[in-house]
Amino acid sequence: MLTVEKANLHYGAAQALRGISLKAEMGKITCVLGRNGVGKSSLLRAVTGQHPLSSGSVSFNGVALNGMAPYSRAKQGIGYVPQGREIFPLLTVKENLESGYAPLKRAERSIPDDIFSLFPVLQTMLGRRGGDLSGGQQQQLAIGRALVTRPKILVLDEPTEGIQPSIIKDIGRAIKYLRDSTGMAILLVEQYLDFCRELADHVYIMDRGEIVHEGPAETLDTPEARRHLTV
Ligand SMILES: Nc1ncnc2c1ncn2[C@@H]1O[C@H](COP(=O)(O)OP(=O)(O)OP(=O)(O)O)[C@@H](O)[C@H]1O
Ligand SMILES: [Mg+2]
Repeated sequence: MLTVEKANLHYGAAQALRGISLKAEMGKITCVLGRNGVGKSSLLRAVTGQHPLSSGSVSFNGVALNGMAPYSRAKQGIGYVPQGREIFPLLTVKENLESGYAPLKRAERSIPDDIFSLFPVLQTMLGRRGGDLSGGQQQQLAIGRALVTRPKILVLDEPTEGIQPSIIKDIGRAIKYLRDSTGMAILLVEQYLDFCRELADHVYIMDRGEIVHEGPAETLDTPEARRHLTV
């Protein structure tokens, strides 16, 4: 399980996380919701090692991650699908997937078949440049690339942002499949409430750098939870 405890994070003098504590259990989908700019991506940067905490801790299955570089965290089993996808536009789909080999031992370096069953379009487009894919296809590629690293926890930052409904459905199906078939933990940051309601086992809501609500997915429909999500 991933555990974040009393996390504070600053950008210079500006504080983006204020005493965040959160857990993401294995075999569960944990969803973090919140409006624009409340610190959701900052939380994931702290988990993946893209930005240091000012204080507090992050650990995964008992291993303390504080101070550990992003590639070492990838070796620990943390797979990251960043906001905006960040695929390599000039590399082919195949090369983008192979960039996920970096944390793997030589003998483990292969593209799991699962990725092509979940996202068949990637197989048909293996030779195409990443930058020539549609936004939805790029999102599938970013998820595929993270899966190549054989993660034990998959961390996704707004995977539905700017994506058409049919591909959102495919992504939702893939996330459920990964939870149910592999028992991995999923930490999903979203603004799309219906997507979270459909997928989440446990939800957190953030506002201005703090957790303001926590509970089972059903609690999303309480007036208190709604209040934190409406603009
Ligand atoms: N590199 C940075 N330097 C300075 N401030 C930053 C930086 N990145 C984010 N911030 C600020 O930190 C706060 C939280 O940003 P963050 O990106 O974590 O929010 P978010 O919840 O992911 O927003 P969104 O839903 O728009 O993606 C915002 O006020 C943002 O302006
Ligand atoms: Mg964000």
